[in-house]
Parts: sequence; C-alpha cells; structure tokens
Amino acid sequence: MDRPGFEEVLFSLRAMRRLKPDPVPEQDLRFIVEAATQAATGENRQRWGFVVVTDAELRRRVAEVYLEIATSRVRPSAEGETAATDPAELKVYRNAWRFAQRIDRVPALIVCCARGPRPDDVTWTSTYYGSLYPAVQNLMLAARYRGLGTVLTTLHLIEEPRIKRILEIPDEMNTEAIIPVGYPEGRFARPLRAPAAEVTHWERWGQHR
Ligand SMILES: Cc1cc2nc3c(=O)[nH]c(=O)nc-3n(C[C@H](O)[C@H](O)[C@H](O)COP(=O)(O)O)c2cc1C
Repeated sequence: MDRPGFEEVLFSLRAMRRLKPDPVPEQDLRFIVEAATQAATGENRQRWGFVVVTDAELRRRVAEVYLEIATSRVRPSAEGETAATDPAELKVYRNAWRFAQRIDRVPALIVCCARGPRPDDVTWTSTYYGSLYPAVQNLMLAARYRGLGTVLTTLHLIEEPRIKRILEIPDEMNTEAIIPVGYPEGRFARPLRAPAAEVTHWERWGQHR
C-alpha cells in the first residue's frame, strides 16, 4: 500500500470521529505506540504508559463511562440546550456527541498515561503535560501515516477512577488522554485553522509579514 509522505501526514491530521469498526492489525498498533515512545520528555524520564484496549468487553465498559459523561456534558450543547455557542463550536459539540454514541464500535482505544503526581505549580505543569503530549501527537501522526484515524479525547477524566478500575491502571498513573483508533469512514483533509501568518510575529511581537 502506498504510504502518504510526511507533508501529507502533517497537513491532513484532524479529529477523525467517524471510524469503522474493522479491527486494526496489532502490528499497526505496535507501530503507533512505538512512534509515541520516540517523543521527547523532560530529562528523558519517559514517565508514560500506553494501555491499548482492543478487547470487546473492556471497550464496551470504557465506552459506557464515556457515553454517560457525554450525555451530561456534551449532549446539552450539541442539542442547543445551553446558551448559543458559535457555529464552529456547535459543530464540534454535535460531532463529539455523535461520536460518543458510537465510541463502543471503535476497534481500539489507546489510553495515554503519565506518572503522577499531577502538577500544582507552573514549572511542573509544563514538564508534566509537555512530557506526554508530544508522544500523543506522535501517536496520532503515526496512525495517520498508517491510514488510521484518531481523535484526542479527555472527557473521561470526569470519571477517571472508573476508567482506571476497568483497566487496572495503578494509582500513580494518570490517564491524560484516550485516543480512539480505527479506519476512517470519511477522508483525511486539511483541518480548518486560522492562517499561520496571523499568529507569526517576525522579529518582534506584532510584526506580521
Ligand atoms: C486537549 C484536547 C482534548 C480534547 N478532548 C476531546 C474529547 O473529550 N472528545 C472529543 O470528541 N474531542 C476532543 N478533542 C478534539 C477536539 O475537539 C479537536 O481536536 C478540535 O476540535 C480540532 O478538530 P480538527 O482537527 O478536526 O479541526 C480534544 C482535543 C484536545 C487537543
């Protein structure tokens, strides 16, 4: 199979919530987790762990918790019951709510864990999250390279102890993100972002070219 080039991977990674239930080959799951582990961490500590959940019963139980949270936290906004948000935001809520109702069908969930404690000061905050999110991004890019869709999710944190119990994750590990992985129903495409020129300041803040 033809693999996309680096630029195509980079510029077509987006939240892919419409995923087929077809199983993902274990070698692909191994590859994307290995890619995650190539990321940088503060002092090269690598205080991470990745729980790859493919077992149908475990996925069902995680999905049940996720849907329960989404029902109270996402559905009201998706269905316009809360104060009107802007159309783009509303679209995200609608997609996220639709996704929550189908998450039980996603063939693999990768729970990205970081060793605690969770930060309570500014320096540790950047080191702690900055030592996991590069790995998460690597994981998603590697999945995209293998033709797999992903979406970064954190909603489960509202009921994190339940997720940890289901997956027997030890107390000292925090589950900072769950990445559902599967073959996309839709097509990869460039995500909608403000032009880079608007946020690029040349030499001094405020100087755009
Ligand atoms: C920190 C973080 C947390 C997120 N949590 C969720 C989530 O819990 N559920 C969900 O469906 N999407 C979640 N998302 C996905 C975002 O909604 C999505 O990345 C954003 O809307 C951009 O989508 P796009 O790349 O398709 O433009 C999260 C993204 C980030 C970066």
